[in-house]
Amino acid sequence: MLLLKEVKKSYIEANGHLLPILDIPRFAMQAGEQLVLLGPSGCGKTTLLHVIAGISAADSGEIRIDGINLARLSEAGRDRFRAAKLGYVFQTFNLLPAFTALENVLLGMTFARGRKDVGRARHLLDRVGLAHRADHKPTALSVGEQQRVAVARALANRPQLLLADEPTANVDPANQQRIIDLIRETCHEENIALMIVTHSADVAAQFSRVERLLELNRVISNN
Ligand SMILES: Nc1ncnc2c1ncn2[C@@H]1O[C@H](COP(=O)(O)OP(=O)(O)OP(=O)(O)O)[C@@H](O)[C@H]1O
Ligand SMILES: [Mg+2]
Repeated sequence: MLLLKEVKKSYIEANGHLLPILDIPRFAMQAGEQLVLLGPSGCGKTTLLHVIAGISAADSGEIRIDGINLARLSEAGRDRFRAAKLGYVFQTFNLLPAFTALENVLLGMTFARGRKDVGRARHLLDRVGLAHRADHKPTALSVGEQQRVAVARALANRPQLLLADEPTANVDPANQQRIIDLIRETCHEENIALMIVTHSADVAAQFSRVERLLELNRVISNN
């Protein structure tokens, strides 16, 4: 369901120099498959997730999700595609500050389907242990609580592919396991493919497929 071919991505530094980050010859995932993406800080994991999600455009290559080549879509087209098909847990959460936890989860549904499933939103908040904080806005949530809302929001729309960027980086071990269990069970039940970035050996050990970005990538970083 996901296929990358010859995907290249560079940044332009403030001094005008090109900084190559990704050069991935091939990478594939099946529908419903679950994997962990590992790699040291700064090696390009978030950059890769952004490119797969169409948040930023690759410089060249093919990114196919369900047969659609994202590289051929406009930015607006990629945004629509992402809203309809993908779930994304941002490393920095990206919750909307004016809205409560429940409303943020509901916003994960609004764009794509035009209708809100309040029961599902409450269920997901309950599963991340936040039923009692549903009416809090992000500034009235702890950092780990904000991260848990971000997980619930990413699952809200029943995506086909969930990209989760260190979704347990800010929580204690018990909540880490609770979030991992929720993500994996929901993805399994709903046939959602899952790519999860983690620095936790405990989390990585639970997955049968573990990919190391340094091995997938032809760009040699300084890590
Ligand atoms: N907009 C940008 N302009 C220039 N360089 C950038 C830009 N964004 C990221 N980088 C560089 O690209 C590299 C990869 O960044 P990325 O965020 O993908 O790393 P990461 O593997 O997710 O790291 P971490 O584990 O710390 O989150 C880093 O070395 C970073 O300095
Ligand atoms: Mg990152």
